Amino acid sequence: AIERTLSIIKPDATRRNLTGKINAKFEEGGLRIVAQKRIRLTKEQAGQFYAVHKERPFYDELCEFMSSAPVVVQVLEGENAIARNREIMGATNPADAAPGTIRAEFAESVGENSVHGSDAPETAAQEIAFFFSGIEIVG
Ligand code: CMP
Repeated sequence: AIERTLSIIKPDATRRNLTGKINAKFEEGGLRIVAQKRIRLTKEQAGQFYAVHKERPFYDELCEFMSSAPVVVQVLEGENAIARNREIMGATNPADAAPGTIRAEFAESVGENSVHGSDAPETAAQEIAFFFSGIEIVG
């Protein structure tokens, strides 16, 4: 089925001017960027977005990192977009990411791993609504 997923190009990638190279991976992988904006998150906003990870030992570090430079938030659309995007990104830890994936090519560490993607339909809907209103998404 055609799905939508929320993607974030993270601070380690925007800092290295990799937005275009990462977007090319999404497009070559069959996904369409149907909404996109570059924003700077506050630490509080990052904390709200990642609230499910509140109890994890890396939560504070994650929120510091995500608010350390601009991010590009985007909605990707396509056939099985949630799973497809996860394939294009590769494993969370770049050491485990398959060759050719975004994280294999660009990620610096498990924390500074260049991209975020929603992991399921319910979280995709929540995460899209966190950043975008309906009028901003143009399929
Ligand atoms: P993401 O898909 O954005 O979802 C949660 C993020 O937490 C994850 O990608 C990583 O960037 C980060 N993360 C996961 N495990 C660790 C870890 N062990 N240390 C630091 N950050 C982590």
